[in-house]
Amino acid sequence: MCGIIGFTGNIDSKRILIDGLESLEYRGYDSSGVSFFNEKNKVETIKCVGKVENLKKLIDKNLSISNCGIGHTRWATHGNVSIENAHPHKSGFVNLVHNGIIENYISLKDKYDIKNTISSTDTEIAAIILNKFYTETNNDPLVSISRLSKEIKGTYAFCVIFDDRPNEIFAIRKVNPLVSTISNIGSIISSDLTALIPYSKEYYIVPEDSIIKLEQYKIKFYNINNLERINLTPCELNWSNDSTMKDGYPHYMIKEIYEQPKALENTIRPHLKNHIPDFSLENITDEFLKSIDNIQIVACGTALHAGLVACNVFSPIIKIPITAYVASEYRYSEPLITKNTLVIPISQSGETVDTIASLSLAKSYGAKILSVVNVRSSTISRESDFCIFTNAGPEIAVASTKAYTVQIATLFLLFSKIAYLKNMMTIDELINFSKTLELIPQIITDTFSSDKIIKEIAKFLKFKNDCFYIGRLQDYISSLEGALKLKEISYIHTDAYAAGELKHGTIALITQGIPVIAIDTNINISSKLLSNVEEVKAREAAIILIINEKFEYKKDLAKFVVPIKDIDYRFAVFPVSIITQLIAYYTSLEKGLDVDKPRNLAKSVTVE
Ligand code: F6R
Repeated sequence: MCGIIGFTGNIDSKRILIDGLESLEYRGYDSSGVSFFNEKNKVETIKCVGKVENLKKLIDKNLSISNCGIGHTRWATHGNVSIENAHPHKSGFVNLVHNGIIENYISLKDKYDIKNTISSTDTEIAAIILNKFYTETNNDPLVSISRLSKEIKGTYAFCVIFDDRPNEIFAIRKVNPLVSTISNIGSIISSDLTALIPYSKEYYIVPEDSIIKLEQYKIKFYNINNLERINLTPCELNWSNDSTMKDGYPHYMIKEIYEQPKALENTIRPHLKNHIPDFSLENITDEFLKSIDNIQIVACGTALHAGLVACNVFSPIIKIPITAYVASEYRYSEPLITKNTLVIPISQSGETVDTIASLSLAKSYGAKILSVVNVRSSTISRESDFCIFTNAGPEIAVASTKAYTVQIATLFLLFSKIAYLKNMMTIDELINFSKTLELIPQIITDTFSSDKIIKEIAKFLKFKNDCFYIGRLQDYISSLEGALKLKEISYIHTDAYAAGELKHGTIALITQGIPVIAIDTNINISSKLLSNVEEVKAREAAIILIINEKFEYKKDLAKFVVPIKDIDYRFAVFPVSIITQLIAYYTSLEKGLDVDKPRNLAKSVTVE
């Protein structure tokens, strides 16, 4: 959460900072700001509340010439959304932007007797302390930053310019990410790769316990303890510039929904050899997979739902305990880990702080870690023993879409291989399973033709305040995900229930016209689900039925019906996801909301 950018080079830094903040805006958009050296080497600061477009308007009016500056887009943690709380924060020589939370800021305030602050943020405390150290050390940036790092508890990425050091940027990080590159226009530092993609094919991951110093065409790293220089090898950036564009689509979300056939192909193909799942790319051996006797998945939000789908499909097949845990709970629990426990963190960004903490906890208990991650070189991928990358390309819209389906596909490949190695699937069953998975990109493409009926549904939903999703087994997990997507971008209060649970309380909320979206893709339990639909229909709910095209149901049961292709129910989650994603997208659109940047949210959740 919060996006940081810094640039020092030979062209207008304000333009680079604004472009960077626009591409980082999905990390937070409560307020934004920049500090930059002008042509007289004086630092100017411009801040405003709201989205980066507001800042852009102010910057367009600023005539200063600048080649070096830092910028920030904020997701509020400490302190409300206001100009005073917007970054950068200034104290004396120090101009500082921060992503993270300083957990001990109250005791630091006492320790350094800090009384009068402009903002109510934890960040300003860091700026004040750093300025104190800077003046005490005769304006030594490295020593003062090193001292600051020893004082602060919590997670952070800080980027600093000092008033008396034009063209220089300093930064440090703990847990929260920072990446940096040298390009032909200068040196750039950013919270993530999306802001670097236009400038270079190589980048550095700023290591924890190091200070990075950016000069116009130089990047230097120093050990944060002894301040000795460190040499780092750059990583290769293999995302194209086009992949972060909207490509003619009105929003990133709809672009990313439509990218799913390609994303799935790119994820499935490299992991199949003659229709048999293969993880030699990741050095994951059959012996290792065979030895696993307990799987614990840790993830948040949509990524957690991907884990739940895989648990639901494979627990009955592999017949070992497979459990998906909410990472923010798991990290404070005492997990039962034995020597053959495999822990699978799932994350699009690879930077979700609760998932990282769960990974660290599991590691400390001796578990082997195999992560499923989309962003290469992210913290989770680096901290894991093994990492399977999902090849979805950059996901920019805050609501996750393509990352979800590729995560499920990856888990299906992995778990079917484990099932086979443990003699729980025959080779023929394994091959048939993989062949069905290979059909999914086409099935998804076919599902896009439901667009018309979904637009009608959106017109109906737009006037509703409440909505329910119901389903059983995998369709219940699809309900959880459908409800999350709908509430997050349309702001319609939506709950998901295991259909059989409704009559244990929730059915009291069903009144005339309340939309109930029922998902029915499993023939073994279709009649049970349809009985639950009858029960809410009897209370005059408006039924929207997402159902396998071959299943029978009473013709007047539903107000809207969205059929999906006749498919093995274990794979129905794929077309169903497309439908629930489109329902959320078009409803948000009908309501005139900001689809890609829903309120109060940010893409990478790097705070607890
Ligand atoms: C919902 C959504 C979130 C993320 C969650 C985990 O649409 O995007 O629920 O799935 O914040 O993020 P990652 O996958 O980056 O760990």
